[in-house]
Amino acid sequence: MRGLYRSVYSLVVAEPVPFAIETPDRVRKERYYDPDFYALEVERLWPRVWQMACRLEEIPQPNDFVEYEILDQSVIVLRTAAGDVRAFENACRHRGVRVVEGRGTCESGFVCPFHGWCYGADGGNTHVPRAKAFSEHNLHPGEIDLVPVRCETWGGCAWINLDTDALPLRQCLEPSASVLDGWRVESLRTDWWYSCRLPVNWKLAQEAFVEQYHVVETHPQLVIPGRYGSRKGEVDPRAYIAADLRYLHTMSDGMAGMVHANDVAVAERLRAEIELPDDPDAAIATWHRELNDAVTAWHRERGDDIPDLSALAAQQLDEPMGYCFPHWFVLPMYSSASSYRFRPLGPEETLMEIWSLTRFPADEARERPVPPEPWECDDARWPPIPAQDFSNLPRQQRGLHARGFEYMRLSERMEGHISNFHRTIDGYLAGLPTERLLPALREVNVNPLERAIADFEL
Ligand code: FES
Ligand SMILES: [Fe+2]
Repeated sequence: MRGLYRSVYSLVVAEPVPFAIETPDRVRKERYYDPDFYALEVERLWPRVWQMACRLEEIPQPNDFVEYEILDQSVIVLRTAAGDVRAFENACRHRGVRVVEGRGTCESGFVCPFHGWCYGADGGNTHVPRAKAFSEHNLHPGEIDLVPVRCETWGGCAWINLDTDALPLRQCLEPSASVLDGWRVESLRTDWWYSCRLPVNWKLAQEAFVEQYHVVETHPQLVIPGRYGSRKGEVDPRAYIAADLRYLHTMSDGMAGMVHANDVAVAERLRAEIELPDDPDAAIATWHRELNDAVTAWHRERGDDIPDLSALAAQQLDEPMGYCFPHWFVLPMYSSASSYRFRPLGPEETLMEIWSLTRFPADEARERPVPPEPWECDDARWPPIPAQDFSNLPRQQRGLHARGFEYMRLSERMEGHISNFHRTIDGYLAGLPTERLLPALREVNVNPLERAIADFEL
């Protein structure tokens, strides 16, 4: 632990951060509501990080665009005629009007709705009505184009960074990016997409989903003997498989996806047919391998792009979660996944989105997913598992304000990701260059479940 303390002191020396993480397994409550701390995040964190701006399936055709909003910034993310993706600040160079709202397709560029300044799909200004009425210095070529925003694509998504000097996207998402590439995350498509307005800080919201410690108390239906937790002594393989099926059904129903109903059906068929060796450990290993093979085969038969799930498992690349700092992650289960994104709306308000993602035949036409209207966190339409998580969050945000409560006390072994995440944030708030934050990013861009506190130098 000594290295951890040293790293925090060197960080504090860099530039003071209020309510900084000084003891790695303690998180001060003010980080979740103090207006000045929030203002520092607005100023020093969000303008410098890669953000998941949209799924590429939202802009499938040339000239399709969406608006991505973060805090007071709005960015146009556009598919070009050549098929790549670009981004621009959504502000007319005349008097600042947001040029677009929401989403759409611009057949021949954009027209500002106020006075009609025109921009091509490359962001370049193409027309100023009554241009002769302006002084020359206000219409300098190159100064009246939409301001470009850094944009790159990875993992089936477009990512933006408001920092023109940002390091390349991939460098900032490793090692999650490589792990999720192996699982072909880019081939996933939206089955459904919901969003929630949560009366909690954006960090608190995501911290409810990055550890497993809460499962026993919050999601008791997932505690299935033989499946959850460690196995003790001799196990009857048939009982184990029955428990596994129960777990798959409970996850599938509880998340309305995640383990897709297609994969559950494959598992049910396999249970009826499978022949198992006598040795219990070999039998359980056979079950997992054959289930991976059966899911892979079912999807390939249908024309889906899916990796060899058994090969991934053999290489230990079958992680149950891939986290990408600071606000997006994906939870793979067999062929499919749930994916989450979090955006602050204020110190104690968050817009959280959940996608249920799965694979479809490559030639199957899919609709452009439409951004959902946010539901309240107690809306009866939420699937059971997020509803359970949401029931805790507002209570936690309110509880943090208790006068006698000073800091969260984290489990060093089970809740380490929360510490790693906060200390990475402190690196940004201290104004450190991204190069110096890369070791920290490599510790947070991982499977965060059951993660220990990492010893990284900032
Ligand atoms: S503000 Fe856009 S044309 Fe005037
Ligand atoms: Fe949960």
